[in-house]
Amino acid sequence: METIRVALEPAYSIHVGRGLLADIGKFINVESRRVLVVTDSNVAPLHLRALLSRLIVLPGIRSLGSITLKAGESRKRLPAIQKIYTAADRQTLGRGDLLIALGGGVIGDMTAFAAATWCRGIGCVQVPTTLLSMVDSSVGGKTGVDFKDRKNSVGAFYQPEAVVIDVDFLNTLPSRQLSNGMAEVIKHAAIKDVGLFGLVMAEEPDFVNIILRSLRVKAEVVERDPKEKGERALLNFGHTFGHAIEAHYHYRKYLHGEAISIGMMLVSPSPELRQALELWNLPTQAPGLKLDTLTDLVFKDKKNSRGVLRLIRVPEVGRAVIEELDEAAVRGLVAKLSADNEAASGGTP
Ligand SMILES: NC(=O)c1ccc[n+]([C@@H]2O[C@H](COP(=O)([O-])OP(=O)(O)OC[C@H]3O[C@@H](n4cnc5c(N)ncnc54)[C@H](O)[C@@H]3O)[C@@H](O)[C@H]2O)c1
Repeated sequence: METIRVALEPAYSIHVGRGLLADIGKFINVESRRVLVVTDSNVAPLHLRALLSRLIVLPGIRSLGSITLKAGESRKRLPAIQKIYTAADRQTLGRGDLLIALGGGVIGDMTAFAAATWCRGIGCVQVPTTLLSMVDSSVGGKTGVDFKDRKNSVGAFYQPEAVVIDVDFLNTLPSRQLSNGMAEVIKHAAIKDVGLFGLVMAEEPDFVNIILRSLRVKAEVVERDPKEKGERALLNFGHTFGHAIEAHYHYRKYLHGEAISIGMMLVSPSPELRQALELWNLPTQAPGLKLDTLTDLVFKDKKNSRGVLRLIRVPEVGRAVIEELDEAAVRGLVAKLSADNEAASGGTP
């Protein structure tokens, strides 16, 4: 088991290893606290009972409850938050009590948002169960829900008390979801850690080390820029076009990581990057995609202020740069990318 300390205000620890669920009491403080576990309808039948049975025997725990929400991004909305509030109210959770998120990024983002707002802030522990949530969403304190057609538009920055990553949860994760998380790992390797690339390309992937190294990249960036005022934008490599691709297909065709994979290749088409993405069965281009339409969408994105786009590019694997481009420059870039794409695919659109 390894622990990474995240030096934010307040600081917290991320514990990573196999079989950590059995020892959950070592990593979280339940003394004199009411504890409510939030999970989803796919994770509950697989892992909820195991977590609850470990928690109920911990000395000093005041009460233990759980709520299972319907799984899926389409449920990441305010009505689900109200369901968490209702369960918290029923269990009379107050300021000193604790919510535990057992699930992927959807459950993690919603549980942390409910924790940030219930009684103006109660404790929150993340127990992520997807690769994406292990390497990305459980760390950094971004929480929230979708509103109308805007992803994550209602939310808050709120740090967890602890993150407990039991890598064994990956044993039940469908392979498409594993690849989805690997897109974020490859992004972390591309922007800051060439060594992580070797681990990603290994025949027998060592997930404990992949997750640890990936988390170190994220934690380092987030520590320096907790509220996304500067360097944290590096984590958006691939996301500018990725978000637009997801939105263009109404979040149905591509998973987040798949859209990011295409987005990374669009702005930094290096052969190494392509090899890593293809090894993990991630798409590197979107057949039939009109890049001009995407540019329109990109300028509607909430991150692009005053017609200036902050685009993250990776000139060489392991090093990222932030470029500020106006709309005309982006359209020029897109036209070039479009021509390059056509040339690469032998002239087919
Ligand atoms: N807060 C952040 O910084 C941040 C960063 C990246 C993404 N996100 C958010 O994360 C969400 C995506 O997270 P995700 O990819 O984990 O999606 P998810 O939570 O929807 O999980 C994907 C699917 O896997 C299932 N699942 C989860 N764990 C499982 C397991 N161990 N075994 C079997 N099935 C399992 C879930 O029920 C779901 O069907 C998005 O809403 C995105 O906005 C947040």
